[in-house]
Amino acid sequence: MCGIVGYIGHPEKTIDVLLKGLERLEYRGYDSAGIAYFKDGQINVLKKAGKLNCLEEIVDRNMLTEIGIGHTRWATHGEANEINAHPHKYGKIVAVHNGIIENMDELKKELEDKGKKFISDTDTEVFVAFLNDALEKYQDMKQAMEYTMKRVKGSYAIVCFHEDDLEHLYIMKKDSPLLIGVGKGEMYVASDYQAFREFTNQYVLLDDFEYGIIDKNAWHVYKDGKVVEKKIEVLDEQDSLSNKEGYDCYMHKEIYDIPNVLTNLFTFYEENDTHSVPDYRKYNKIQIVACGSAYHAGCIGKSLFAHFAQFPVEIEYASEYRYQPILADQNTLVIFVSQSGETADTIHCAKKIKEMQIDSLAIVNVYNSTLSRLTDYVYYMRAGEERAVATTKGYSSQVALFIIILREWMKARNTWTASLEQQYQEGKTKMLQAMEPCLKKFEHFSWIKKLIDKPANFFIGRQSDYALSMEASLKLKEVSYLNSSAYAAGELKHGTISLVEEKTPVFAIATDKNTYEKTKSNLMEVKARGAYVILTTLDTAEEEKEVDERMIVPDVGALFQPIITIIPFQLLSYQVAKALQLDIDHPRNLAKSVTVE
Ligand code: F6R
Repeated sequence: MCGIVGYIGHPEKTIDVLLKGLERLEYRGYDSAGIAYFKDGQINVLKKAGKLNCLEEIVDRNMLTEIGIGHTRWATHGEANEINAHPHKYGKIVAVHNGIIENMDELKKELEDKGKKFISDTDTEVFVAFLNDALEKYQDMKQAMEYTMKRVKGSYAIVCFHEDDLEHLYIMKKDSPLLIGVGKGEMYVASDYQAFREFTNQYVLLDDFEYGIIDKNAWHVYKDGKVVEKKIEVLDEQDSLSNKEGYDCYMHKEIYDIPNVLTNLFTFYEENDTHSVPDYRKYNKIQIVACGSAYHAGCIGKSLFAHFAQFPVEIEYASEYRYQPILADQNTLVIFVSQSGETADTIHCAKKIKEMQIDSLAIVNVYNSTLSRLTDYVYYMRAGEERAVATTKGYSSQVALFIIILREWMKARNTWTASLEQQYQEGKTKMLQAMEPCLKKFEHFSWIKKLIDKPANFFIGRQSDYALSMEASLKLKEVSYLNSSAYAAGELKHGTISLVEEKTPVFAIATDKNTYEKTKSNLMEVKARGAYVILTTLDTAEEEKEVDERMIVPDVGALFQPIITIIPFQLLSYQVAKALQLDIDHPRNLAKSVTVE
C-alpha cells in the first residue's frame, strides 16, 4: 500500500534518495506517486497518476534541494488521480500520509466553517489543513502536532515540512509504520526501511502516538509532550536487498528461491534451539489469525495439528476475528501469520490479544515489523525480501514453519515419536530433493489457453488439499484476473455444481491418500457434466484415465506434501499471467502490505 520516504541533508542527494526510495517501495502496490521539495524560495510539488516512471519523467534528477518528501499512493479516499496524489500542501505545510483519518468529515466541517477550502477528496488534505490551522493558533510546530494528534482519529504515518523552516522534517505516527533512518549529516524517514536501506543500516522505530522533529544532524522523538528515549536498531543481515537475478519478474524469481529458503529455514530451526519458544505444554487451545495467503498457510497448519497432534485448532480471518468476542484465555496460544508483519487487521487483533494478556506467537518475515514487536514469541520466516505482490516463497515458508512448530509442540508434550521423527527426516529430504526437478517439470503447461476464455475456474480438494485449493485459486485470480474459486470437494454438489458446464476448468487436488477416492468421485461428477478436469495427484497413485490433464507431483509424505504440491500452481499462475501479458509483480488494485482495514 502507500509508501513514504523523506530526506534532509545533502542537497545533491535529495532527489536521488526520494526517487530511489519510491522505487524500493513500488513492490507494495500503488496507483500514483509524488514528491515535494524546496526550491527557489518555495515548496514545489510534483505528482502523477500511474506508475513511478510517469513521475520520473517530470523530475529533474540533478536538482539541488536540502529537504524533500515522497509518496506512492494506493487510493482510499478519492480516485487515483493527480489531485488526490500526495504530497498535499495546505498553507505553508506540505505532507505525505499513510493510513486513514476516520473523523475526516468532522474535521473538514470544522475547517469549512472557518472558511477553509479543499481541492482534493482526500483525508490527507484535511489532516494537513488541520495541522496548518493548529500551527496558526499555537505558532509552534511541536504544539501544533500534539494538538492535531489529540483531535485526529484513525491511522497515520505523517511526514511533513514547513515553507519557512527548511531545517526540519516533522513526523507523527499511529497504527501505520514509520521509521527514521540515521545517517551522518543527513537523516531519512520512511514507512519501510527498504526505502533507505541502500544508504544507511541504522534506524529508529516509532511507536504509536509518538511524533518527532528531525534535522540533518539529530532526531528527537516525543510522546505527550515528553522526550522519548529511543534505541537505534541495526538492520538484520537476513533482510538482504533482492533483485531479479535474470528472471523476467520477481514472482518467477521468488518461486525459484523456495528450495534455498526452505533448506536454510529447516536447518536454522533444527540447529538453533535457543530461539525463544512458548511452554507448549500449557495450552489447551490454539487460534490462528491471518489474512489471504497467510490464512491459507494457517489452514494447512490447522490440518497438520489435527492429523499429527490430534489437537483442535481454530482459524479465523483477522478481519473477522477483530469484531467477534475473543473466546480465548490464559491457556490459549494465538498464532498470527503475516509475511509483512504490517497487515492492519492482523495487527489490530494482536493488539487486542496483548491487552488481554493472552500468549501470542507470530510467524512473520519482516524483521522488527509491528507484529513481531507486539507478540510474545516470534518465528521469523527467513524468506528474504519478497517483492512480488503475490506471495510465493513467503507462503511456502509459512507452511514450513507450521511443520517446525508442530514438531516442537509435540516434542514438548512428549508425543513426537521416533517414527514421526523418521517420517519428518525422510519427508524433508525427499521434499527438498524433489523441489528443483518439480520446478523444471512445471515450467510449461500446454493447456493454458483452455482456462483463459472461461467464465470460471474451480479448484476442489479435501482437508489439506482443500487448503491448497484455496491458495491455488487465489494465486491464479490475483495475477491473471481469471475468475476462480475454491470449494471443499464434497461441497460442490450442494449448489456450485450448477455453474459447471461444457469445458469449465475444474482443478481437483487429490494428494491426501485418505480422501483420494472421495475426491475422485467428485471429479467424476463434474466430468459427467462436461468439465475440463485437471487432476493433481501423487506419482505413486494409479494413473487416472478419465481426466483431461494431470499434474503429477512427487509423493513426499503427508507432513511435507502441501509444500511441494503448491509449486505447480504458483508456476501455473505465473505462466497464465505471462501469457496474458499482465504486470505479474504488480497486479491491478492489489497491495503487498495491506495497512488499512
Ligand atoms: C496473496 C497475498 C495476500 C497476503 C495477505 C496477508 O498472494 O500475498 O493474500 O497473504 O494480504 O499479507 P501478510 O502476510 O503480509 O499479512
